[in-house]
Amino acid sequence: MTEQSPALDNLLTESRTFPPNENFSAQANAKADLYAEADADREGFWAAQAERLSWDTKWSQVLDWTNAPFAKWFVGGKLNVAYNCVDRHVESGHGDQIAIHWVGEPGDSRDITYAELKDEVSKAANGLASIGVGAGDRVAIQCPMIPEAIVAMLACARIGALHSVVFGGFSPTALRSRVDDQEAKVVITSDGQYRRGKAAPMKVNVDEALEGAESVEKVLVIRRTGDEIPLIEGRDLWWHELVDGQSAEHTPEAFDSEHPLFILYTSGTTGKPKGILHTSGGYLTQAAYTHHNVFDHKAGEDVYWCTADIGWITGHSYIVYGPLANRTTQVVYEGTPNTPHEGRHWEIIQKYKVSIYYTAPTLIRTFMKWGNEIPQKYDISSLRVLGSVGEPINPEAWIWYRENIGAGQAPIVDTWWQTETGGIMISPLPGVTSTKPGSAQRALPGISAKIVDDQANEVGKGGGGYLVLDKPWPGMLRGIWGDEARFKETYWSRFAEQGYYFAGDGAKYDADGDIWLLGRVDDVMNVSGHRISTTEVESALVSHPTVAEAAVVGATDPTTGQGIVAFVILRGNAVDGGDAAVQELRNHVAKEIGPIAKPRQILVVQELPKTRSGKIMRRLLRDVAENRAVGDVTTLADSSVMDLISSGLKSGK
Ligand code: WTA
Repeated sequence: MTEQSPALDNLLTESRTFPPNENFSAQANAKADLYAEADADREGFWAAQAERLSWDTKWSQVLDWTNAPFAKWFVGGKLNVAYNCVDRHVESGHGDQIAIHWVGEPGDSRDITYAELKDEVSKAANGLASIGVGAGDRVAIQCPMIPEAIVAMLACARIGALHSVVFGGFSPTALRSRVDDQEAKVVITSDGQYRRGKAAPMKVNVDEALEGAESVEKVLVIRRTGDEIPLIEGRDLWWHELVDGQSAEHTPEAFDSEHPLFILYTSGTTGKPKGILHTSGGYLTQAAYTHHNVFDHKAGEDVYWCTADIGWITGHSYIVYGPLANRTTQVVYEGTPNTPHEGRHWEIIQKYKVSIYYTAPTLIRTFMKWGNEIPQKYDISSLRVLGSVGEPINPEAWIWYRENIGAGQAPIVDTWWQTETGGIMISPLPGVTSTKPGSAQRALPGISAKIVDDQANEVGKGGGGYLVLDKPWPGMLRGIWGDEARFKETYWSRFAEQGYYFAGDGAKYDADGDIWLLGRVDDVMNVSGHRISTTEVESALVSHPTVAEAAVVGATDPTTGQGIVAFVILRGNAVDGGDAAVQELRNHVAKEIGPIAKPRQILVVQELPKTRSGKIMRRLLRDVAENRAVGDVTTLADSSVMDLISSGLKSGK
């Protein structure tokens, strides 16, 4: 690393570290020498990881990067992804192992073994084939978290059709734009879904979305809530009527390693959603390798639970593909974490003896707000590895997670990655890394990440800048569906000369060279010429005992360029946000970070605007901070939040 002027100021310091426990290290899947092994021969390392899978035809070349940024991994190799996730476990004598402990929101549950999953996926594959779905066709899936949704994904993979899962809470307009963009032939949905203790309609929204949609030939409807719904003659079919009577024998065809596996749409801050394309061999290798090492997963021993929805990439890579390729027994939960009570997750962990738990910082902060006494009522001592994903985790939330959920023992893996990366890129390795609250720390063995300044020079220790991935990796996106130019422009143009993938995130190195994520560079604030990360100010606020959650934005300021405006939610029993309390919080930030980061204004609010995947929408808060009409709220999980914020503001200086 060379000493360069940083592109981002490094303000917040955190010095706590937690070395791995010796007993844990002794049994850990990951060993420290993996890093050196991968550095010595990257392609050889990835070839060894690809051996985790069963290939029908072995590859002749590990990586072809001659047509960068379009990578080909395991060139010439052939495999069937669904066979790898299901059949081979049955063939190796584990058909009776539970694949999925499914828990419905209203209290119903189902245990599905690998043998049963194989039958279900085979029948569904036969069913899809019988209505004319074949390799290369696109199937859109908008379903709640029910086993059939996972079966449908695997059935598509089995016959070489691309699935495109659309989050169950998305509007008809959002579904329609995705269906049109990919020209989906079939849409799979359910009659309704359970959410927050109530049955809500689903199929009627799909009908609204698909009005006049030309590409769609069939709509398959899974029965979940049992609500009466109209079926459109000639187009709609009940899933059970199509699938239940099919043969459970289906021969999986081997597809090319680069055969497309799925499209998943991610909505950027601007423009229409991008259909991120992933392919087969490299993606599955990445998902299986990272799941094995980052979560220390032991097949047949652990019970794993990733709380994401299959509508997000986390659900694809760490519920469906990575875990099933690794013969995981996992919990899949349909509902919300406070239905019917705020201890629901801990109750499920206690019941199934969950040992690995992977969730998002937004939920951890919500658990903090609900209070320590809730998890204390349950026996959650089975937990041995805890994961976090989706946003930077504030150090205080990290410490809370470790103490209250991990009994001060379980290693926490803060995993940084994106829909585009396909799998985890930066994370501690449990049993190897001395963890630090709030830092994702280091690129995994086989992955190469750097923090660079505007001129693409790597910043020095203590410096901040742009996070880039400077070498290709097997799970990388292969493009944006139907838009080559946008793919190059979005990810490869910022550092085109160097050929770096720019992820859009800011980050800094600490004195040990560990990586700290600082949020999206679009959110960086510029106060009197200091580039300050929203994440750092938010973490300083959350470290105050009265604050449950915080979101920080830069608002135009006549003297300083931008001024820091903070929105905070106070903890359950904390004092109301009077002037004295607000003043104390401003001083607290000044003490933690420095006077330059002292918020100009702090607004106490009841809720924060979040996307459906739990990310704070700072753009809308900037509108409030700058006294503008609030912009487009359609991607908010709850669009009434902005009214609540605007009407309930109490301000202080
Ligand atoms: C953010 C989710 C800090 C980041 C897997 C990234 C994180 C975006 C972390 C991708 C983390 C995800 N620490 N930030 N551990 N994990 N992010 O595509 O800004 O839904 O660019 O993928 O989430 O979000 P996506």
